[in-house]
Amino acid sequence: MTAQIAIEDVSLRFISKQGPLQVLDNVSLTLHPGEFVVLLGPSGCGKSTILNMAAGFQQPDTGRVSCKGVPVSRPHPSRGMVFQQSHLFPWLSVLENVTFGPRLGKHDKAQLDKQAREWLARVGLEGFEHHAPWQLSGGMKQRVALARAWLPQPDVLLLDEPFGALDAQTRMMMQELLRGAWLTTGTTALFVTHDVDEALFLADRVLIMSARPGRIVDQVVLPFGRERDIDTLARQPDYQQIKHQVLQRVREEAKRHWQPVL
Ligand SMILES: Nc1ncnc2c1ncn2[C@@H]1O[C@H](COP(=O)(O)OP(=O)(O)OP(=O)(O)O)[C@@H](O)[C@H]1O
Ligand SMILES: [Mg+2]
Repeated sequence: MTAQIAIEDVSLRFISKQGPLQVLDNVSLTLHPGEFVVLLGPSGCGKSTILNMAAGFQQPDTGRVSCKGVPVSRPHPSRGMVFQQSHLFPWLSVLENVTFGPRLGKHDKAQLDKQAREWLARVGLEGFEHHAPWQLSGGMKQRVALARAWLPQPDVLLLDEPFGALDAQTRMMMQELLRGAWLTTGTTALFVTHDVDEALFLADRVLIMSARPGRIVDQVVLPFGRERDIDTLARQPDYQQIKHQVLQRVREEAKRHWQPVL
């Protein structure tokens, strides 16, 4: 099976006035078609940098990044990205924001608008197509960002703490929304979070990174199956034990980097 995304032996350091900073050290990870993989790791270990490389925004110093066997050299609509902030254009309406990227190519406008409306309805924003971003709540903006990412039917969705700024209730609804859409579209997902419960609800596999320079130090394959109910998952027999194991591992790595002075 060809990997949807293959990151092989990738290392990267940033050079700045303060000197070189080794950020990634020999990182390898493979995303198989249709998988949902979550990356967990201490702040500053290079998670966003990995997503940026998979998206094509950043090139590694050494190693290879490929998408279905083809080297990734620049961003492409087949690899969508969702960030912690929605980054909507404030002067465009919700509908125009969702269709902005595909409109730059040769697309049938009426067809695009129809598909965008379908996605907006799916994320619960029917009736908000002509609102401006500033008329939306934080959760609504992130739903627009999800609709925008899904419209071009990406093979891979790269999500960098997309729900990090949301309250707990909205966050759970967004997790359900994302998982539902992932199940029906078959999109491959690489998702970064610091929230272990979020990781356990969403992922097929969780990858744990070391403190900087980031390496993948552990992998946990989750046994919860495809049908997951967010309200009852935590009562599954293995849940608490796996949560504890993952949390401990992430904390171990985080402490290696720094500990708060009390
Ligand atoms: N463009 C850049 N130039 C210089 N250094 C950078 C650049 N981007 C990131 N870094 C550094 O690379 C390291 C990894 O950054 P990255 O954003 O990938 O971390 P992260 O794991 O996503 O952290 P967080 O969980 O806090 O979002 C950090 O130490 C950061 O300072
Ligand atoms: Mg980050």
